[in-house]
Amino acid sequence: MPSSLHRRRLLLLVVAAAALRGAPLADAGADTCKAWLVQSIPTDMPHLSRIPGVLSTGDVLQWLSGNATKSLDILAQYWQFLPQPNNPKSGDYGFSESDMRRFGADEGRRVYKALENAADRKIKIRIVQHSGFAPDFDQESADLAAGRPNVENATVLFEDWWGSGVVHAKVWISDKKDVYIGSANNDWKSLTQVKELGIYFAGCPQIAKTVEVYFQNLWTLSTLNSTFYTKQAWDTQWQVSRKVPCWSHFLQPKERCRSPIPLSVDIPYVDGYPALANPEMIDVSFETPGYKKPTQEHYLSYLSFAPPEVTFGRFQADEQGWVDTIKSVKLGGIVRMNTMDWLGQSQYATQTVYWSSLSSAISEVVFSKNATVRLLVAYWAHLIPNTEKYLKSLLY
Ligand SMILES: *[C@@H]1O[C@H](CO)[C@@H](O)[C@H](O)[C@H]1NC(C)=O
Ligand SMILES: *[C@@H]1O[C@H](CO)[C@@H](O)[C@H](O)[C@H]1NC(C)=O
Ligand SMILES: *[C@@H]1O[C@H](CO)[C@@H](O)[C@H](O)[C@H]1NC(C)=O
Ligand SMILES: *[C@@H]1O[C@H](CO)[C@@H](O)[C@H](O)[C@H]1NC(C)=O
Repeated sequence: MPSSLHRRRLLLLVVAAAALRGAPLADAGADTCKAWLVQSIPTDMPHLSRIPGVLSTGDVLQWLSGNATKSLDILAQYWQFLPQPNNPKSGDYGFSESDMRRFGADEGRRVYKALENAADRKIKIRIVQHSGFAPDFDQESADLAAGRPNVENATVLFEDWWGSGVVHAKVWISDKKDVYIGSANNDWKSLTQVKELGIYFAGCPQIAKTVEVYFQNLWTLSTLNSTFYTKQAWDTQWQVSRKVPCWSHFLQPKERCRSPIPLSVDIPYVDGYPALANPEMIDVSFETPGYKKPTQEHYLSYLSFAPPEVTFGRFQADEQGWVDTIKSVKLGGIVRMNTMDWLGQSQYATQTVYWSSLSSAISEVVFSKNATVRLLVAYWAHLIPNTEKYLKSLLY
């Protein structure tokens, strides 16, 4: 899919939830929140069906719009819910309407319609997005906002703040209690032609509140002129000069500005950043109705975000979230990782940067815990040439 090209990144903007420790709790119940895994599976792949109990992305996105009574906040990289087989600039061009139906493009139309309905019900919709891509860029979100004061659309260009990168998180928050976090873009192909995975939280105000802080910070960035809030920093870890927000820890303390984002003073961890020993834990009891043995368990968990300058010290950075997840494997246990790209280096920085955190974490658990690590990496049209080199380096 041409759109997938745009999913590569320098900065990892995935919002990931990492469950840390589980312990049954007697008085679970009051704030029980429900959590389901959510999948997209390409049509025409009968041998790879959706796992029973796992929801479909298209359904969940329609529910989030359909159930909203007050607010809907959306983080998106780009918009292409509506297929465009007649537009020569679109990747859909050349396919017939019946091809489009077979590919499941109608699901994109349904999700967009549900959003329009929510907009017409006067739900307060806020959208933070990257600029989008050809042929349409952000036309669909602009259409939602046009003539509707209850719909607000904002663009944040990470390259203005960090020199490169995109808003890569795909998040929907409905009524500050129901949340989708996952890999699916606001693209019909992410519903029925690309394998996507996410999580749907229903009735989870505590989770929503945390994700909302991240949303709000990106919203704040969209209102500021980055020219006045960025500086060049020497990154001693990566040995490169980087553009960063002026409150970044990559700057010496006396060079830093006061952050315009609330609470963004301290400490998230990425290579070169101070480590966060105690990320803010979310203490919620989860029900998992889709699981074949439905569970109601009490987990301490945290949400991780990136880049570190918008995670304000209370929340863990994605890089550390992944490292923690790998290192949480038991003695002799198995780590399974599923990813589109695997690269131990930067992809878009002017100077190529070596990035070893994940491969180091893998080596550590293989050596010290006799763990088995299973890594599933996409082999696809836009495979990055160095992928194989980095995979082989894990096998020494
Ligand atoms: C609201 O969400 C639930 C699942 O959480 C779903 O079953 C229901 O269809 C949704 N309602 C609407 C109007 O979308
Ligand atoms: C938001 O939508 C309005 C109305 O369609 C449009 O004029 C504007 O360019 C959009 N802004 C962004 C940042 O997408
Ligand atoms: C930001 O400020 C600079 C310097 O004053 C100005 O040239 C630029 O047009 C401003 N950008 C925006 C988006 O307002
Ligand atoms: C390491 O794990 C393998 C199975 O994955 C097992 O056969 C082997 O005995 C283990 N080695 C040690 C030292 O525990």
